[in-house]
Amino acid sequence: MSQREKIVVFTGAGVSQESGLSTFRDLGGLWQTHRIEDVASPEGFAKDPAMVLDFYNRRRKVLMEAEPNAAHRAVADLEKGFEVVVVTQNVDNLHERAGSTRVIHVHGEILKNQSSADPSLIYESDKPEIELGDLCEKGSQLRPAVVWFGEAVMHLDESAKHFRQASKVLVIGTSLSVFPAAGLVDLAPARAEKVLITLDDDQTAPWGFEVIRGKAGDMTPRVAAAWLAGRTLL
Ligand code: OAD
Repeated sequence: MSQREKIVVFTGAGVSQESGLSTFRDLGGLWQTHRIEDVASPEGFAKDPAMVLDFYNRRRKVLMEAEPNAAHRAVADLEKGFEVVVVTQNVDNLHERAGSTRVIHVHGEILKNQSSADPSLIYESDKPEIELGDLCEKGSQLRPAVVWFGEAVMHLDESAKHFRQASKVLVIGTSLSVFPAAGLVDLAPARAEKVLITLDDDQTAPWGFEVIRGKAGDMTPRVAAAWLAGRTLL
């Protein structure tokens, strides 16, 4: 059997926006309504753990009521013709729920719980909320298993390996402003076909990328259909 071409799909909050999840930097996005240092840093958690847990518990609830959209489904469809690795900055599980089988979460997973003392202790959650007093096996408070500012990004080497092997890269709905994750896109081979889908009229594409402006839910199925039919977009 001939080896299938590898597609790396790199996603950010914009791919889940049409599922009703807030982005970070758009008008009304999470970082416009909340201070990063309050809700997304170890210092913020130490200062007011109840407020931070409440912030993530509310996001968990929104996610549990959300459904994957046409973009997530189109990404999953790509597996019909390609080896597909999804590298996502998103902490939601909508790619998995749409059917993608290889999803790498570089910024963690909001529905999982993590020890606040030992980041290697990560648990499947057994209830929707994390409350003050919910402890890890070593007796420390549990927190959501998301990467906060100042903490190490997850699976970076493994993600970099996939980018270097990609023959196509599809970037969807990310401002590419948070490093080191955003730097992964520069690792794709020069000859790879590279496409960025964004709603942002002003976003400039990384070197070698073709930009498609529009909603992820409209544009991703078009890109997927073209690639599955063996057409390039250029
Ligand atoms: P941002 O909020 O920074 O960027 C979202 C991007 O998606 C913007 O370029 C929007 O124009 C675009 N967008 C919004 N809706 C869209 C739609 N329906 N279709 C297509 N594009 C759309 O989100 P991220 O780039 O994901 O990290 O943010 C990166 C990281 O910053 C997050 O993972 C998070 C945050 O701080 C951590 O918490 C560590």
